[in-house]
This record gives sequence, structure tokens and C-alpha cells, in this order.
Amino acid sequence: MKTIFVTGGAKRIGKAIIELFAQDNWRIIIHYNKSASDAEALAESINANNGDSAFVVKGDLDKSDDVQSIVSSVNSISETIDLLVNNASTFYPTPIEDISNDHWDKLIGSNLKGPLFLIQGLKEKLQASKGSIINITDTNLTKGIANYSIYSAAKAGLESITKGLAKELAPEIKVNAISPGAMLEPPDVTWTEEQRNKVIESIPLKRMGTEKDIAETVYFLAHSDYITGQIIKVDGGRSLS
Ligand SMILES: NC(=O)c1ccc[n+]([C@@H]2O[C@H](COP(=O)([O-])OP(=O)(O)OC[C@H]3O[C@@H](n4cnc5c(N)ncnc54)[C@H](OP(=O)(O)O)[C@@H]3O)[C@@H](O)[C@H]2O)c1
Repeated sequence: MKTIFVTGGAKRIGKAIIELFAQDNWRIIIHYNKSASDAEALAESINANNGDSAFVVKGDLDKSDDVQSIVSSVNSISETIDLLVNNASTFYPTPIEDISNDHWDKLIGSNLKGPLFLIQGLKEKLQASKGSIINITDTNLTKGIANYSIYSAAKAGLESITKGLAKELAPEIKVNAISPGAMLEPPDVTWTEEQRNKVIESIPLKRMGTEKDIAETVYFLAHSDYITGQIIKVDGGRSLS
């Protein structure tokens, strides 16, 4: 049985990735930080169909000690790790005049530092299984996102790490990134009809992306044996305009 570990896996895009791999009978390790009940409910629903194949691991990626305890838990749950998906992310604006050390620590922790140290901690098992790492970034950062300088820097760093580690960890481990466009409204934000239509108008394929679009790309990359160091934009062509 192959094993996938997804950070921020209790809800939204992370949950969709997990559900797709559960259908394919992978062992599932769901990471969460605050969404304990969603993570437990997801694991229970998978276990109801697939036996004891789903596990949950808690931790705050902003905290180095938590990252190390996540690594220990994942390594002790499964003899093998085939796929690490660095999906968890914190996303909020930081206009330059308001930026504090705390903003820096939070946005860099979840989007860049945490993923890097998870890769370090799970490297041996990924090497042994000739596995894959998939980092989830953001299409918008290539054009610059006003008021999101720390978030953009963190995601750009994650793309840079993707390319560097693709070389460093080859030939055993493949390292790629998926760069989503406009998929879901940010958590706790509801766009007006007008805002939504404006976004859709800017997308050549004339729709928002869905969780499924990202999950299917993760699935494709996980099953591909000759792609590494790539950043795959899943954005309906928005980055072209
Ligand atoms: N949604 C979009 O349209 C869009 C667009 C571009 C890129 N993306 C990228 O796609 C990925 C998934 O997007 P999403 O919208 O589904 O993500 P999301 O809902 O914003 O966040 C996913 C999870 O990240 C976890 N998380 C946040 N801070 C954390 C921390 N300090 N420590 C541990 N976990 C933390 C949270 O887990 P808990 O709930 O358990 O705390 C949260 O549920 C992200 O990497 C995002 O940047 C999304």
C-alpha cells in the first residue's frame, strides 16, 4: 500500500487530494492544525470504507518543535512514504507599512520554512520508495501581488526550493510544484457576484478552478515517472492574460 502525507488536509483543496488518493486505496496521513474535528471526520469516513488506512497528525508549521513532532509521527505511522504534498498555507495581506516580525514568521513558517523542514525530515523514506514531493504554490505571484509581499516571497521561495531540490534529490525523489490560479475564495471571505464575475472574465477557460482540478494534477504528477523540477500552472490560462 502506498502512503501519501498531505499538510492542511482537513478541508478544501487538501481534503480533495486526500479523497482522490483514498479512492485509489493509498494509506492516508492527514495533517491539520486547528481543524481537528474535520480531520477526524475525514479519517473516519475513509476508514469506514478502507479499513484502518487513514491517520491524523496535528501540528503548527510556524513552530519548529511542532514540525519535528509531525516528522516523528509521520515516520512512526508508516514504514514507507511515497508522496508528500506541502499544501498547508496561511494567506493574508501585509501592506508594507503594517509588516511585523510576527507576520513574517507566520507567512514564512507555513508557506516555506515548515515545508522545507518536512522535506528534510521525510527525505529518507521518500528516497527509499523513489517517491515524490509536490509543493502547492500560487500562479499569481509571478505577476506580483500588491499587499502580499511576504506571502509572495514565501511561495516564490517554495518554487525555488522545488527546482533546487529536484536536482539535489534526484534520481530517487521527484520534486514538482502545482501553481493554482483562482480556485476558491479565501477561507472566511465571500466575494460578491460582481467580484466573482470579474475574476471569471479574466480566465480564458471562463470558470473558477475547483479542488478537483488540483487533486487530479497531484494524482497525475504522483503517477508520472519522468517529470521533476516543474511548476505546473493550473489556472484556466489566467497567467497568459
Ligand atoms: N484557494 C485558492 O484559490 C488558491 C489559489 C492559489 C493557491 N492556492 C494554494 O493552494 C493550497 C490550498 O489552498 P486552500 O485554499 O485549500 O488552503 P487554505 O484553506 O487557505 O489552507 C489549508 C490549510 O492550511 C493549514 N494551515 C494554515 N496555517 C497553518 C500553520 N501555521 N500550521 C499548520 N497548518 C496550517 C490550515 O489547517 P487547519 O485548518 O487545520 O488549521 C488550513 O486548513 C495552498 O497552498 C494555497 O496557497 C489556493
